[in-house]
Amino acid sequence: MYITDYITGTVIQGLGNGRKFGFPTANVQPDKPVSLEKGAYAAWVRYEGKRHKGMLYVGTRPTLNLQELTYEIHVIDATPRLYGKQIAFKPVYKIAEEKRFRSRKELIYALKNYKFSAKKILSSNHSFHILARRYDVPEIMKIMEQAKRRMREQGIDQWQDGYPDEAAIWNDLKRHQGHVFRKFCLGSVYAAIVFDEDPYYEKIDGQWLSSGEPYMTVHRLAVQDIILGLDMARHVFKYAEKRARVTGVKWFRIDTHHDNIPMRNLIRNFGFTFCGIVQVRDGERLAYEKRVLQ
Ligand SMILES: Cc1cc2nc3c(=O)[nH]c(=O)nc-3n(C[C@H](O)[C@H](O)[C@H](O)COP(=O)(O)O)c2cc1C
Repeated sequence: MYITDYITGTVIQGLGNGRKFGFPTANVQPDKPVSLEKGAYAAWVRYEGKRHKGMLYVGTRPTLNLQELTYEIHVIDATPRLYGKQIAFKPVYKIAEEKRFRSRKELIYALKNYKFSAKKILSSNHSFHILARRYDVPEIMKIMEQAKRRMREQGIDQWQDGYPDEAAIWNDLKRHQGHVFRKFCLGSVYAAIVFDEDPYYEKIDGQWLSSGEPYMTVHRLAVQDIILGLDMARHVFKYAEKRARVTGVKWFRIDTHHDNIPMRNLIRNFGFTFCGIVQVRDGERLAYEKRVLQ
C-alpha cells in the first residue's frame, strides 16, 4: 500500500465509545470513496493547518457487534474538538488487521500497543544507518526499481532509461558513498552522499550561491514503497547535512526533475535556494543549493 495524497473528509457524530476507552476518535465521512483494507494504521492527520501523529481504524467494530464500515481517527497526544470540521489523513503503515476482541479490556490493551507502534513508526529519528555493503546491493536494487516504477506511474520522466543501474550502485560502494537507512525492519531508503565535484554542475543556466568551494550532493535517493510518507527522505537530508558540517564542507547542492513534486517540496521545505537549470545525462534538472556551515 502506498498513498501519495491525503484523504479528506468531514468529522461526523460517532457513538462516543472511544472517549470511554481512553481513545477518543473522530469518525470521518470521506469526501470521495476510499479503497483501504480494514485494519489499524499509523497515519498522519491534518487539521487546522497542522500535521499530527495519529492512528486510523477502518472497520465495522466487530468487538461492539456493529456492522457499519467506519473510518475513525485517533490523534496521538491531543484531544482536539473536531466535530463538523474538515480533516485529512494519510495512512502510512498498516499495524494490524481488524479483530473481534473477546472483551473491551482486550481492545483497549491492543489500542495501547498500536499507539506505541504508531508513535515509533511516525517518529523520524527511529532509524538505523549503515554504509552500504555488497550484501545490500540486491535490496538497494529493489528499492531503486520501486522508485522508478512510482515515477513512471506518476508520469515523471526521471530514471526511465535504466539509470541508476547496478553499476552506479557498485560505484557508490567503491567510493564509500552509498548509504542505507533502515526504519526498524519495515523498509529502507538508499542515498548516495557525494563529496566529489559533479561534472553536470559545472555549467548552470543561473547562478550557484557558492563558487569554487567544496560542496556535498545527495544523489540516487530512493525510498522503499512500504515506508513512503514516514519522512525518511528528510531524515537522509538531515544526516547528509550533518556529514557535510563535520567534514567542514559548507555547501549542499541538489537537483531534481521539474515534475518530481514531492522532491521539490522537500527541497523547498529544507531551506534550499533555487539556483537555475543544469543539464544531466537525460535532460534538464532544477538545481538548488544551501549553506550548511558558516
Ligand atoms: C487504531 C484503532 C484500531 C481499532 N481496531 C479495532 C478492531 O480491530 N476491532 C474492533 O472491534 N474495533 C477496533 N477499533 C475501534 C474501536 O472499537 C472504536 O474506536 C470504538 O468503538 C469507538 O467508536 P465510537 O467513538 O464511534 O463510539 C479500533 C480503533 C482504533 C482507533
